[in-house]
Amino acid sequence: MVAVAILAAGKGTRMKSDLPKVCHNLGSISMVERVLHSCLAIEPERCLVIVGYQAQRVRESLSGFGGLEFVEQTEQLGTGHAVQQLLPHLEGFTGDLLVLNGDVPLLRPSTIRQLLETHQANQNDATLLTAQLPNPQGYGRVFCDGQNLLKEIVEDRDCTPDQKQNQRINAGVYCFNWLQLAKVLPELKANNDQKEYYLTDAVNYLEPVMAVDVEDYQEILGINDRKQLATAYQILQTRVKDAWMRAGVTLIDPDSITIEDTVELQPDVIVEPQTHLRGKTAIGSGSRIGPGSLIENSQLGQNVTVLYSVVSDSQVQDGTRIGPYAHLRGHVEVGESCRIGNFVELKNAQIGARTNVAHLSYLGDAKLGNRVNIGAGTITANYDGVKKHRTEIGDRSKTGSNSVLVAPITLGEDVTVAAGSVVTEDVTNDCLVIARARQVIKPGWQLKSIVKPQE
Ligand code: UD1
Ligand code: CA
Repeated sequence: MVAVAILAAGKGTRMKSDLPKVCHNLGSISMVERVLHSCLAIEPERCLVIVGYQAQRVRESLSGFGGLEFVEQTEQLGTGHAVQQLLPHLEGFTGDLLVLNGDVPLLRPSTIRQLLETHQANQNDATLLTAQLPNPQGYGRVFCDGQNLLKEIVEDRDCTPDQKQNQRINAGVYCFNWLQLAKVLPELKANNDQKEYYLTDAVNYLEPVMAVDVEDYQEILGINDRKQLATAYQILQTRVKDAWMRAGVTLIDPDSITIEDTVELQPDVIVEPQTHLRGKTAIGSGSRIGPGSLIENSQLGQNVTVLYSVVSDSQVQDGTRIGPYAHLRGHVEVGESCRIGNFVELKNAQIGARTNVAHLSYLGDAKLGNRVNIGAGTITANYDGVKKHRTEIGDRSKTGSNSVLVAPITLGEDVTVAAGSVVTEDVTNDCLVIARARQVIKPGWQLKSIVKPQE
């Protein structure tokens, strides 16, 4: 039996934030969500989350996970005190307890699994994950004998100058024989610089305790401030981007690109500089995205191009070209081989195949058929100040430049709208509609000359 406990009760003073530290986002999801994903991958029998500072907020942020047991630590008196709160909840539990800090979000499931296996194979009282850090400042230092058996952990602030030289650090990830841990937890004292109950002291009381070095020390970065949060984000990004390049995606100038780990890309996608792919986004092979584009929660087919544009919550079919400077948002669907061009905004619009909206248009709450041509500057007036209304345009219809379609309105198939029209009434198939004042020409007309005063 394996239970997992995640320490997530601290405020995170060094973040200087109203938001609890573990709720800060690292990419698309929070730190504590990342920790949960990693430890749930090893399928523990129980998963306990210790909450305290803004407990309700932390709980709510995790409402998407099933089967979590929340344990309240009403006063945050240290990591040891946090684990003490488990005593009543784990009464009768006889298995192993994995303890993870909620602020160590880059840990890989394979590392957790390896820690657990070492622990069980050696029947240790405790096994802790350690790392050799080039800059160990701020972390607890771990002192071992030649067999990796623990002699002592000392917190950074309680270290002598000599002890501070030790670069082997405590990652804040432990595996305990619960019955042994439960025996020593009540013994903890707060006789240290912070006047806190340290979980590391409980580790010091147990024997044998084995330390296992993590292969990639970047995994155990603990996040205490915004600088470390930014460093962690970069590490995560490098992981994600390296994996996509290995999978056949071209990234031009990867340092200027961000790709959230929720994104799916097919081989032979090309991502150009200053492009950001976020949320539940998927992009088909042969597509070229960027430079300078943001794609969020959108699905793009194959051979789509997006240039200096923003696409969110939308779907785009194969072979369509978007941009430069287009904005698709709020449930847009664009069919195959369309062109959505310069300075075009589409909102909640469904566009058929081979339709062009090439320049300077706003189409909102609209449905367009196939092979429609929208002239430059065409606008759907979809909002009457109170409600939004729909515009429908049938196959092969064309709007002249600078036409305004006042919704609700339906134009049939093969309709032509004359340039500069303000169309307010429905138009049936095969019609030309001209809705503008007729041009008037007055030959020989001049400004009346000023009447000269009589002499
Ligand atoms: C801790 C370790 C340190 C290790 C480092 C790794 C102790 C005493 N020290 O230090 O050896 O190198 O992690 O990142 O354990 N928390 C609670 N309740 C509390 C206090 C903290 O739930 O009363 C939670 C925090 O929300 C956080 C985690 O425990 O997720 C770690 O707390 P933090 O104060 O950041 O510990 P460190 O000083 O980093
Ligand atoms: Ca920490």
